[in-house]
Amino acid sequence: MQNPQLTDDGELKHLLSIEGLPKRILNQILDTAESFVGVAEREVKKVPLLRGKTVCNLFFENSTRTRTTFEIAAKRLSADVITLNVSTSSQSKGETILDTIDNLTAMHADMFVVRHAQSGAAHMIAKHVAPHISVINAGDGSHAHPTQGLLDVFTIRKYKPDMHNLRVAIVGDVLHSRVARSEIHALTTLGVPEVRVIAPKTLLPQDVEKLGVHVYHDMNEGLKDVDVVMMLRLQNERMTSAMLPSAQEYFKTYGLTAEKLAEAKHDAIVMHPGPMNRGVEIDSAVADGTQSVILPQVTYGIAVRMAVMSILAGN
Ligand code: CP
Repeated sequence: MQNPQLTDDGELKHLLSIEGLPKRILNQILDTAESFVGVAEREVKKVPLLRGKTVCNLFFENSTRTRTTFEIAAKRLSADVITLNVSTSSQSKGETILDTIDNLTAMHADMFVVRHAQSGAAHMIAKHVAPHISVINAGDGSHAHPTQGLLDVFTIRKYKPDMHNLRVAIVGDVLHSRVARSEIHALTTLGVPEVRVIAPKTLLPQDVEKLGVHVYHDMNEGLKDVDVVMMLRLQNERMTSAMLPSAQEYFKTYGLTAEKLAEAKHDAIVMHPGPMNRGVEIDSAVADGTQSVILPQVTYGIAVRMAVMSILAGN
């Protein structure tokens, strides 16, 4: 079946999930992002690649990093950018999401960046829009967060360029995490040989091994000799019942402390997609420590989002 994210010629048309995207496209995005990193160091932080285009940021769910970095990225590409505050938009008066899209299309929008609590929202919009419009999924339910997965692998590539010789551990609430799913697909597609997930049984999806990962329930075993430790946020808003004894208990067993991090390689990097819960998923000493690349992840997110938008615009 034709991948709805690709044109008949195999080029990127929408970015909805990493699952099913070929390695060629992932590398195209990462290599293009590399060329945008330097834009931030210029006196005038702008390139004209999206001049005359209108990008609509539609965030139906809270966000700090993704919303602002998409906005900065679009502005650095010289696009006109609208960020719709959904709580004050006509959605709150009962307008459907597709009517909102049609109205913004009537204002000549060229690209929609969509975050929604419902898995599949971005796919639905991509099926609905006119052929000249592209849709980027900025996180849908517990399904996918493709630009987060891409900025994470971009950050790893920056610090650990030999992707074919890496051991990566993803720690925490894999069950509810769209970030974990996108990261796993990105890492395995790019040929990272060993991806581990470390979590209690209650926070792992059934058959998670089918995604090509190794499962650990013990932090010290799972972190042994890894090159990259990716911590996940506890997605309390998506937990339908008590899946954990308490935040303190969770921190004791699965929170990343300097002591547990010592099991990883001495030059391992520590990542977190944010928002971080200090003292629950990660100790402040580690989050702010020398091995942490949590803030560089945010910075690289701008270059990666510029790359995605510029490729979708046909540059
Ligand atoms: N990582 C991430 O999606 O953060 P925000 O929810 O702040 O966008």
